[in-house]
Amino acid sequence: MKLLTSFLVPALTAAHALAAFPFSSVKKETAGFGNIVPNRFIIEVDEPADIPSRRSLDPRTVHETLYDSLRKRGVGFKVDREFNSEGLFIGAAVTLQDAQDAMTVLRMSGLKAIRPVVKIPAPKPVSIHIVTDVNDPAIPADTESTHVMTGVDKLHAQGILGKGVKVGILDTGVDYTNPVLGGGFGPGFKVIGGFDFVGDAYTLDEGSNTPVPDDDPLDQCNGHGTHVSGILGANPGNEFNISGVAYEASINMYRIFGCTGDTTDDVIIDALLRGVSDGNDILTMSLGGSSGWTEDTGSVVSSRIAATGKIVTIATGNDGTKGTFFTSAPATAINAIAVASVDNIVIPLQNVTVHGIQHDPITYFSTFPLPVNGTLPIFATSTDTTVVDDACDPLPDDTPDLSQFVVIVRRGTCTFVQKLTNVAAKGGNISLIYDDGAGFEAIDVGNFTSSLIQGDDGVFLVSEFASGANISLSFPQVGGSTGFPDSTTGGLVSSFSSYGPSNDMFFKPAVAAPGGNILSTFPVPLGSFALESGTSMATPFMAGVSALLFGLKGTSPEVGLGARTLFETTAQRISSNVTDGVPLQSVAVQGAGLVNAFNALTAETIVSPGELLLNDTAHFNGTQKFTVKNNGTAAKKFTVSHIPAGTALSLQPVCITLCEVSMTQKWPQGTPFPEDGPVPLSTQFATVKFSETSFTVHPGQTQEITAHFTPPTGLDPSVLPIFSGFIEIASTTESYQVTYLGLAASLINAQVVDTSDVFFGVDLPVIIDASGNFQNTTTNYTFVGADFPSLLLRLTFGTPELRIDLVDADINFKPTIPTRDIDTRHVFERETFSFPQASGGSFAQVKIAGPLFEADFLPRNSDVDDGTGFEEVTFSGAFFSNGTTIPNGSYRFLLRALKVTGDPVNEADFESWLSPIIGVDSPA
Ligand SMILES: *[C@@H]1O[C@H](CO)[C@@H](O)[C@H](O)[C@H]1NC(C)=O
Ligand SMILES: *[C@@H]1O[C@H](CO)[C@@H](O)[C@H](O)[C@H]1NC(C)=O
Ligand SMILES: *[C@@H]1O[C@H](CO)[C@@H](O)[C@H](O)[C@H]1NC(C)=O
Ligand SMILES: *[C@@H]1O[C@H](CO)[C@@H](O)[C@H](O)[C@H]1NC(C)=O
Ligand SMILES: *[C@@H]1O[C@H](CO)[C@@H](O)[C@H](O)[C@H]1NC(C)=O
Ligand SMILES: *[C@@H]1O[C@H](CO)[C@@H](O)[C@H](O)[C@H]1NC(C)=O
Ligand SMILES: *[C@@H]1O[C@H](CO)[C@@H](O)[C@H](O)[C@H]1NC(C)=O
Repeated sequence: MKLLTSFLVPALTAAHALAAFPFSSVKKETAGFGNIVPNRFIIEVDEPADIPSRRSLDPRTVHETLYDSLRKRGVGFKVDREFNSEGLFIGAAVTLQDAQDAMTVLRMSGLKAIRPVVKIPAPKPVSIHIVTDVNDPAIPADTESTHVMTGVDKLHAQGILGKGVKVGILDTGVDYTNPVLGGGFGPGFKVIGGFDFVGDAYTLDEGSNTPVPDDDPLDQCNGHGTHVSGILGANPGNEFNISGVAYEASINMYRIFGCTGDTTDDVIIDALLRGVSDGNDILTMSLGGSSGWTEDTGSVVSSRIAATGKIVTIATGNDGTKGTFFTSAPATAINAIAVASVDNIVIPLQNVTVHGIQHDPITYFSTFPLPVNGTLPIFATSTDTTVVDDACDPLPDDTPDLSQFVVIVRRGTCTFVQKLTNVAAKGGNISLIYDDGAGFEAIDVGNFTSSLIQGDDGVFLVSEFASGANISLSFPQVGGSTGFPDSTTGGLVSSFSSYGPSNDMFFKPAVAAPGGNILSTFPVPLGSFALESGTSMATPFMAGVSALLFGLKGTSPEVGLGARTLFETTAQRISSNVTDGVPLQSVAVQGAGLVNAFNALTAETIVSPGELLLNDTAHFNGTQKFTVKNNGTAAKKFTVSHIPAGTALSLQPVCITLCEVSMTQKWPQGTPFPEDGPVPLSTQFATVKFSETSFTVHPGQTQEITAHFTPPTGLDPSVLPIFSGFIEIASTTESYQVTYLGLAASLINAQVVDTSDVFFGVDLPVIIDASGNFQNTTTNYTFVGADFPSLLLRLTFGTPELRIDLVDADINFKPTIPTRDIDTRHVFERETFSFPQASGGSFAQVKIAGPLFEADFLPRNSDVDDGTGFEEVTFSGAFFSNGTTIPNGSYRFLLRALKVTGDPVNEADFESWLSPIIGVDSPA
């Protein structure tokens, strides 16, 4: 079968938001899996302290020992970076001549871990606008709304500004020549130091680029790190009247991205360890790549650093539309603070000016002014302000030439573009559409000059028009910007903010901070100021709040270790909807809620822990304790109550997917696909019983409370319902909370491998042959030139272990995923592969010809074609992964993916698939 885009299932255009991928997005010449960088690995070795005979040895010797044993085993390697931070990470980043040697390295003694180097994509704000000058039309008057939302303004008023605290930022560098960031570099300036690990020209996208490090982290070409730095530390008194959250803190900038392009996690580890040795109190990272696992190298090292009492803040990611279980790494770091984004309560919009009668300006939903000169009269397509289908049909013949009017149209029934097309047919090219109650928001007007105004404003304009008033409008190109109170999403979790939890049920994000529509500093050559959105903006905000905490309470490890709990227990719960108020948004995307810096820093009661991790039903940890300590001077009486949050239904019910997307049900169970964000919420909640519901704590005393949880009932476990909520501990004057999260399903039942035809029009997984055809019968490959097979697959859930082995064509093995042409035949005796840790269990019994591919802790795929939608594993040479040649013969690929929480030595915990027969017919 030849691959053509016409094979894509037509039903995909239906309501499911499932993106079918054009086959052209599959590149038959590139190998690789996810973000894994070929041939490069991070090796972690035992600490000298771990090895009794070497306890006295210098860590240097540890490296020499590592290289010696690599050489002794004939492993060809080049050292890219050396890590030498006792207690945090000792090891090296290496390039292996043969990736196959990773297996050999894995078997060496004294080795803690070998992980592939992974690519971390360049930070991309969700939106960006570079500000031109003080009169920039895009900039609203009140830009300190984010400080008001979080109580930072009250701390500033008390002179709490982060003085004496050092913050290390890992980013694209900083333009410290911007006067708002101190105008200089080095001791005595705001940016006291740092390092450039990569250089301007570094961009991983272009392949062989080698980093060119130097001492100067100046960035005048990218801008992301300068924006991040300003959110943390911009000096007040500038032309825009903005200030950083902790503008008396000092900054060390570690530049790990070049002007454009990606970086790798070995650079991040290097920068993190440098950040520690430079004595930073806080490390902050507005970066990440898709993961979902707590085991990525960057996550592991970040978590270890946080465990020493430094505060580490990391962006949760901008993948909110991709659904739950999609936290990026290193935000998955267990002890770090993963930060979600909340929309600013104020959005910068534009005003039109009303002429002819006395009336206030009218706000329209656009960041930038509509490009309209002069003052124009209005024309309403209907004088009935209740008309439901205004301008959906061609306008009447007696309509005048509309080219010199601002046309007023009511929203409803047909698309905006259809209305505007009808208006344009009468010459109208500038229109304002008034809301019919659907909501004041950004609308899609194609390439027409138009925008939405509120219903009342429309009714006013239409009635003035109907009464024949001499009314006209103008669109100021400067000075028309207004800070509009955002009553639609202001204060809610930003739609782009990624959902957790991690695949092992840690709740990520931990807390949220403002990250939508944030004005901050930018490199001087690029305009000095810019407006950006993203969890990248929320993260330095949290680093700033952390600096205020350290500034007030001192930079001791004790304060650092208690910080996340303090922020979580004093945060502000976030609703899922401003109009309805209920239910509360899922903890899977808000964490413990919007940080309240004032409440955190002035808390007189210490509640701990901040997170109750209830896990899935198979590992349900339903009895939890927390403590309430009175650190004040008077006795306090508290009551305890349960405030549930919406239960996030992670997956689309399978039946609907099958019925609407794939009419021919080939696979009885179907493949469940994630619900795209905003993930639907159920009001089936968990129930909780407390050991005490009210109690008094005297000064200095601590009360312990036990909570017994019961997961919600009546929900379909196959949609992976994430239940969550809060336990409020309140007195008449104070309120604290403990946040919980669990899964009303067992993760081992989550399907890992997509077996549907939804994405490419054929059942997955599938082999693609040399000419790009889907292979569904026996096919021979020479492995010369482009004549080799590739395996195309999608993961519907993360897997802790995925392997592909070559097996005999007539293996006696029944995969969990049926293949069309499998017979059960005689078994040949060959080498049996087992994982290094496998000692028994039934897994080792599968006879394989040899291993081809193995990877740990892979993220699930998304349903969008942006590089995260599917995986393609290419086998361009007739070699096993241990380097030996595959003898010519008849084989199949055996794909096995371990289910989450599965036992790696139990074959039954894997999903498996056998390919059609692959003939290896290599001339060599
Ligand atoms: C924009 O219009 C609104 C509503 O009339 C008004 O409250 C606000 O002050 C105006 N802002 C500017 C900058 O004109
Ligand atoms: C508005 O006027 C300016 C200056 O005269 C001109 O450059 C611009 O093209 C005009 N814009 C429109 C939309 O007519
Ligand atoms: C506007 O969009 C329509 C369809 O989307 C397209 O055909 C037309 O060329 C566009 N016009 C301009 C001026 O870009
Ligand atoms: C949940 O249970 C799994 C399986 O035992 C475990 O690996 C994981 O760490 C647990 N998660 C939490 C948050 O305790
Ligand atoms: C809030 O609820 C209303 C009505 O239920 C709905 O139309 C709107 O889309 C919701 N808003 C958000 C941000 O989810
Ligand atoms: C259950 O939760 C408690 C308290 O949070 C924790 O100490 C314990 O390790 C958890 N048990 C398991 C099996 O994860
Ligand atoms: C308890 O109160 C004392 C005195 O106000 C303060 O110094 C200390 O930081 C507080 N402890 C915590 C954990 O907040």
